[in-house]
Amino acid sequence: MHDFQYREENLYCEDFSIEAIAKEVGTPFYLYSLNTLESHFQAFDSAFSKVNHLVCFSAKANSNIAILRVFVRRGGGVDVVSGGELFRAMKAGARPERIVYSGVGKRPEEIEYALEFPILMFCVESAQELLAIDGIAGRMGAKAPVALRVNPDVNPQTHPYITTGLKKNKFGINIRKSIDDYILASTLPNIKVIGVSCHIGSQLTDVGPFVEAVQRIKELALKLRAEGIHIQYIDLGGGLGITYHQEEPPHPREYAQSLLNELGEIECTLILEPGRVIVGNAGILVTKVLYAKEGGEKNFIIVDAAMNDLIRPSLYGSYQRIQPVQKKERPEIVADVVGPICESADFLAKDRKLPRMEAGELLAVMSAGAYGFSMSSNYNSRPRAAEVLVDKGRFYIIREREDYDDLIKGEFIPDILA
Ligand code: LLP
Repeated sequence: MHDFQYREENLYCEDFSIEAIAKEVGTPFYLYSLNTLESHFQAFDSAFSKVNHLVCFSAKANSNIAILRVFVRRGGGVDVVSGGELFRAMKAGARPERIVYSGVGKRPEEIEYALEFPILMFCVESAQELLAIDGIAGRMGAKAPVALRVNPDVNPQTHPYITTGLKKNKFGINIRKSIDDYILASTLPNIKVIGVSCHIGSQLTDVGPFVEAVQRIKELALKLRAEGIHIQYIDLGGGLGITYHQEEPPHPREYAQSLLNELGEIECTLILEPGRVIVGNAGILVTKVLYAKEGGEKNFIIVDAAMNDLIRPSLYGSYQRIQPVQKKERPEIVADVVGPICESADFLAKDRKLPRMEAGELLAVMSAGAYGFSMSSNYNSRPRAAEVLVDKGRFYIIREREDYDDLIKGEFIPDILA
């Protein structure tokens, strides 16, 4: 469910006409519905209400500080993977004791930064990282809370670029070998072992792989207990998928119930790191048609958003639904929707049946709230798009459109080139 619906022939976000927003902010822009964001968070959070839990929204899916704030305000934590995301989480008002920090390559200065707050826990991805954290914590006179991120070797049956829990993936510590690293961790003077974590992949549309991962994590927690290592937190990562096209992912309730059934009685706090399922369908990308090229081998609709704004179709061949902001009676054509970037991979849709659009008309690229703006770039020196949040009948710019000066911020011509 989301709040982008037609009223008569015009697409609205909650109570605001998208065309009217475009007139004021220009195009392209990302548009989010506050009501959708809140209700998705609420649905996910309440699905776990039977157990002690903490929902740490995965900042990589959408790291705008206003978006993070929406969840922080509702008691959520944040899952971060870099010093930059930690900085954003703090700017959004997150409580450090609700922040978890994952990632295979944490740098010393990032570890130090996180220890200063200190955060709830580091999800540690290798024995070397464990030693590095121990050393840094020791120098700071701190004790670092950690979970080991284990790799449960479960096939999530999703796009190969977004699987993370297979043996061949770079993430986490082999679950069988992790016992040794847990024993090592428990001997390190500046480390406090408090959890186990995993994340098996993204855009999963079936609960099966999650359940399998839980079985393995539970086994591990029991083995650890036998070793005298008591786990207080089980972090199951994110990964629940959404409908982009015809996928039928489980509802968060169903997902939660399957996980909880499998976990049974376990005296731990559960941590979840959802990203896409909360923000994916709460945001769209609005773009203007610049030109249409018809009559050749193929038809093209050339729009003012490009792969630098939304890279998912180019990178993963992923499907994003596209619809006109103003519905009209018009003939349909089959066309590629492409951007102005000088690459054949710059497309938002291929061979898509769409109404014949005229220059100046608006298209909405749906389900763009997750990994949309957060993966955008300045390629071809294109200023990044604005981001806008709608609350009922009002809208707020939560990130200004970049200008040309932003493009060269921090660049210098050295004297030798004078
Ligand atoms: N936790 C960890 C440790 C993760 O690596 C990820 C995502 C998440 C949580 C959140 O996963 P979600 O609930 O959003 O599935 N750029 C790709 C997705 C990459 C996901 C990376 N990790 C895409 O656009 O599909």
